[in-house]
Amino acid sequence: MFKINENFLNLQDSYLFSTIAKKVAEFQKNNPDSKIIKLGIGDVTKPIIPAVIEAMHKAVDEMGTKEGFRGYGPEQGYDFLRNAIAENDYKNLGIAPDEIFVSDGAKCDCGNIVDIFDLNSKIAITDPVYPVYLDTNVMGGRSGKFNEETGMYENIVYMPVSNENNFVPELPKEHVDIIYLCFPNNPTGTVLNKEELKKFVDYAKENKALILFDAAYEAFITEKNIPRSIYEIDGAKEVAIEFRSFSKTAGFTGVRCAFAVVPKSLFGYTSKGEQVSINKLWNRRTTTKFNGVSYIVQRGAEAVYSEAGKKQIRENIEYYRENAKIIKEGLEEAGFTVYGGVNSPYIWLKVPKGLTSWEFFDSLLNKANVVGTPGSGFGPAGEGYFRLTAFGTKENSIEAIKRIKNCF
Ligand code: MLT
Repeated sequence: MFKINENFLNLQDSYLFSTIAKKVAEFQKNNPDSKIIKLGIGDVTKPIIPAVIEAMHKAVDEMGTKEGFRGYGPEQGYDFLRNAIAENDYKNLGIAPDEIFVSDGAKCDCGNIVDIFDLNSKIAITDPVYPVYLDTNVMGGRSGKFNEETGMYENIVYMPVSNENNFVPELPKEHVDIIYLCFPNNPTGTVLNKEELKKFVDYAKENKALILFDAAYEAFITEKNIPRSIYEIDGAKEVAIEFRSFSKTAGFTGVRCAFAVVPKSLFGYTSKGEQVSINKLWNRRTTTKFNGVSYIVQRGAEAVYSEAGKKQIRENIEYYRENAKIIKEGLEEAGFTVYGGVNSPYIWLKVPKGLTSWEFFDSLLNKANVVGTPGSGFGPAGEGYFRLTAFGTKENSIEAIKRIKNCF
């Protein structure tokens, strides 16, 4: 009799976005004529920019020649891409190319990184939170059971964020080993300024804790004093791993390329208190379990940093920012209280009084044929909130707001 990893039985039935997709498919089946507008999962709609397409075409052609053919590449990513990332994204922050690990997605990185940490690590997450941070720790056995009443897992430290604390999480009141932070935040679309983020870096230093900083949405920051990288904060290189992605920045959700920054000055500890290089450990894990992102995709990612690439990417980001503005201002005109949407593609709104997040989801789908994401799907403190994304087309963003105004 083979046995399963029973930690999986502690998970909620299905991954949030799969549940939504199922509900939407069911609705579409029953209402084949409805023109559903999907502003639920944060998936981009603008085509890949010409600079990237050109670079990938060239790479495809190279692969068809004797001289240009490549087999397995370096598991950590080709030097040309690691150099381009270090040079462009971390120029004044002192991150070296060999501290950058190219991967097939920030979701995968966030999920995989837990491999290298002790099973008894105490985990802190914000609430609401991107479900991957929580679920992967539940799978690994770092949580206790799910408590139906509170909507929380035992043994996980929740740091609630809501309008009551301006969406700034308080430092954990008890000792934790690993803190997940995502800013600009998914799902709330809110940000931390440098002083607020510094408190977490200081906490991590004092407590020998680690911060897993998801910066997948940094390209959407518009305001000053909002850190784009955690390494803008003094001392962060000793306590933080940063995740970034080409998905939302360069429309790579279907192409797949991202990277993790694991500084060489970051050390974890054995149970005897000996220091171990996290960069070395992650390298060991990566070389064993991963064969790298394809050459073609990495050439495409490199082109994001070309002059033409940068310009074209800026135009796309601007397009999504404009959508965020349309959605945010339209909802405000309709009388909703709205957060996010300024430094982020996510708009986080308060659902009308008397409705739960899921009830609002159903109501929005039925009345307006618009799909969003219920706040409670991201954690109990998300109850009463709802997320819309700015990654749709401009026409759909305008149309969705028009329909919402008519229905609510
Ligand atoms: C989201 O909608 O929260 C994201 O698109 C999910 C992801 O990036 O995996």
